[in-house]
Amino acid sequence: MGILGISASGRNVERNEEGFLLKGVTEELVKYILKNSGEQFEYVSLKGKNIMGCQGCLKCAGDNICVQNDDWAELRDKMFEADAVVFGAPNYYGAINAVGHAFLERTFSLRHRNGFALFGKANVIVIADADGPNHVEDYIQDIFRSNYMAPPIGILRSEGVAQCYTCGYGEKCTSGAVVDSHGLLDEIKNEHLPIIDPDTYKRAEIIAIRLGEIVRKMNKS
Ligand SMILES: Cc1cc2nc3c(=O)[nH]c(=O)nc-3n(C[C@H](O)[C@H](O)[C@H](O)COP(=O)(O)O)c2cc1C
Repeated sequence: MGILGISASGRNVERNEEGFLLKGVTEELVKYILKNSGEQFEYVSLKGKNIMGCQGCLKCAGDNICVQNDDWAELRDKMFEADAVVFGAPNYYGAINAVGHAFLERTFSLRHRNGFALFGKANVIVIADADGPNHVEDYIQDIFRSNYMAPPIGILRSEGVAQCYTCGYGEKCTSGAVVDSHGLLDEIKNEHLPIIDPDTYKRAEIIAIRLGEIVRKMNKS
């Protein structure tokens, strides 16, 4: 029991020597919410997980169990057991990243003949994106709604950190986000790095406290 945090990003948190975040915005914020909830939690990264998309084979129609043999089933069971799920994913090309998409798509197996094993599951949504419009939030909400999960306790969107800041060529690459934002540089310094807005952390804390209180209420009733 407790809260399950899932980050669909392929990047774990990494900071430079001065503590500036270089990668892992999704993980950073999912963990921040978990830690500030005051509840027990488990954190899972989808990095390196083998999760196929739904094949539409319908072998789940009879028993709501997906027959694909990969890492999804273990995480599905963790979602079943959790009081609440904090699900975070990054924006890739205006959409949710592929493993996050595949992970959520597989909940199709849970819905036949009114199975809805995630019915009423409390949840929080976290999205990391550098900038620009995207459909990540809509997609996650659509999937949660199709499982009749509870309306999100909170939705947190943060600026991301583009991969170009750590690829090794960002200073001079005229196709990349660093040069786009700062022009040609001799060196990427701390002042050039995007940071998670302090207001985002404040909002994350509020969502976390609300989440913790709701979970405690659920466990009392
Ligand atoms: C393949 C790919 C496509 C991306 N596309 C976009 C995009 O369309 N818009 C955007 O704002 N950021 C885009 N990004 C940047 C990520 O959203 C950003 O790096 C975010 O911080 C990733 O989350 P993470 O730090 O948790 O890994 C893209 C990154 C990758 C790797």
